[in-house]
Amino acid sequence: MNMVKKIDFRIMLENQQNTKTVYINTIGCQMNVYDSGQMMAILKARGFRETSAPEQADLIIVNTCAIREKAVQKMASFIGRFSGLKRKNPDARIVVAGCVAQQLGRKIIARFPYVDIVVGTHAFPRLPAMLEEVSAGGGPLVETEMTESLEKTDTEMLLEHHQTDISEFVTIMRGCDNYCTYCVVPYVRGPEISRAPEDIVSEIKALVRSGMKEVTLLGQNVNSYGKKEGLCNFPELLEKVNAISGLKRIRFVTSHPKDLSDELIAAFARLEKLCRHIHLPVQSGSDRILKKMNRKYTADEYLDKVRRLRAAAPDMTVTTDIIVGFPGETEQDFKQTLDLIEQVEYDSLFAFEYSDRPDAPARRFKDKVPAAEKNHRLKELFAFQEKIARQKQQAMVGETLEVLVEGESKRQQKLTDKDSQAPLELTGRTSGNRIVNFFCNTDCDLDIRDFKGQIINIKIENAFSNSLWGIPAETASTAHQNKGGYVYVA
Ligand code: 5AD
Ligand code: SF4
Repeated sequence: MNMVKKIDFRIMLENQQNTKTVYINTIGCQMNVYDSGQMMAILKARGFRETSAPEQADLIIVNTCAIREKAVQKMASFIGRFSGLKRKNPDARIVVAGCVAQQLGRKIIARFPYVDIVVGTHAFPRLPAMLEEVSAGGGPLVETEMTESLEKTDTEMLLEHHQTDISEFVTIMRGCDNYCTYCVVPYVRGPEISRAPEDIVSEIKALVRSGMKEVTLLGQNVNSYGKKEGLCNFPELLEKVNAISGLKRIRFVTSHPKDLSDELIAAFARLEKLCRHIHLPVQSGSDRILKKMNRKYTADEYLDKVRRLRAAAPDMTVTTDIIVGFPGETEQDFKQTLDLIEQVEYDSLFAFEYSDRPDAPARRFKDKVPAAEKNHRLKELFAFQEKIARQKQQAMVGETLEVLVEGESKRQQKLTDKDSQAPLELTGRTSGNRIVNFFCNTDCDLDIRDFKGQIINIKIENAFSNSLWGIPAETASTAHQNKGGYVYVA
C-alpha cells in the first residue's frame, strides 16, 4: 500500500516539473474565442497549464483576426513584445494562429523571425504534433492547408480540460459562401462546412452535464446551416437543441438577412428556450450600396423581416452591424442608413469604418471615402443610435425581467477590500441579451452558488447605456420556502 503511494508521489512531482505553461491571446469574434478554448483544452490534455502572464509562459499563442486592419495591427503589436523573449527562455515557443495566420502564412515568419509556428484556421488540432516537430529541431513551421471536412475533437476528452461556464459558445458551422465584397472571411475561413447535428447535440449535452445553462450557436451564416451537406436545417437543429434537458437558453449568431426563413421566425414563437434576441447585420440602409456590397437584399426586404420577427415575438431585441464609408457611399446613402436605424430602433449596434482588406474585391472599387469623412460619419451614427438605445433602456425601468445569473458583477470583481457585510452585486442577462446587475439579499445566508446559473425575476429600477440595475422581484414573503426569498422561475 505504502509503496503505491510513494510511486504516485514521484510521478506527481515529475509531472509538476515537466508542466509547461501556455498563454493564449484571443483577438476577434466569438468563433476565435471558441477555437482558443479548443486549443487550450487540447494543450491541457497534453500536460500544459494555463497562465495569465505571457512573459513567463513557455508557449505563447495569439489567435488572430483579419476582419479589419485594426485587428491586424493589434496582433503585430502583441507579437512585437516578444522579440527578446528567446534570449531569456530559449525553449519558449511563439505561435500565430487563426485568420491572419491563414492569410499571411510564411510572410509572418519573414516579418517576425522569432515566431515558431503559423497555424491557419483549419489546422489548429494539429498544433501538438507541430510543437513536437519544432522541439525536434524542425521549425519554423507554417500550416495553412484548408481541409474539406471539420476535424473532430473528442468532446468528452476536451471537456475534462475545460472549465465550463454558465454560458458557452458552440460552433455549428465554419466558413462562408456569401462573398460580400468588403469581407475577408470566405478567403481566410474557407467555404461553409456544417458539423453533424449529433456531434453538436452531444457536445452541448456534455457541457450541460458540467454546469452550462446557456449555449450560443456560432456560424458566419447560421441560416444556411446543413443545406450543402443535406443535414437538417437550422430551425430543425434549434428544435433538437431545445429538447436537451437541463439547458435553459439558446442563442445564435450570425444571421444573414437574405437567408432568414419563415420557419426560423416561427421558431422564435415556438421554442421556449430560444432567446428573444436576433443579431441581424444590415451593413447599410442604401439599396445602391447593399448591391455593391453583394448583400442580396434591399432595405425594404430587411425591414419587412424585422417586422415579421417582431410580430412573432414582440419583445424581440434586434441588434446589427453597420459599415460606414463603403467605397462610393454618398452623404445621401449615409442618411438612408440613419433612416433605417430610426425605423428599426435597434437596441444596440456595432458600426465600423470601411477598411480595405487583401483579397476582398471592394479594395479595387473607386470613389473611396476619405478617412476624415468616414470618421465623421461613424461619430454621427453613434450619436444618433445613442439616443435610441437610451430610450430603449429607459423603457425597461419598472419591468420585471427574467435574468440568468452569471456571477459577480464587474464592479464586485474589482473590489479589493471586500466588506462581508456589504451586499453582493451579481450580474446576468435577460433573454433579450441586456445586462442586469442587482444586489443579492444579505439577510439570508445565501452563497453565490445558489444564484449562479438560476433564472430569477428582477424588477428594473435604473437604466444605464450598457446595463440595467434592479432588485430581485419577490422577497421576504416567500423567504422560507424559496431559499431566501427569490423565486426561481426555471
Ligand atoms: N471594413 C469594415 N468593416 C468590416 N466588416 C467586415 N469587413 C469589413 C471591412 N472590410 C464588419 C461587418 C461585419 C462585421 C463582423 O465586421 O459589419 O458584419
Ligand atoms: Fe463576411 Fe458576408 Fe460571409 Fe458575413 S456573410 S462572413 S460579411 S462574406
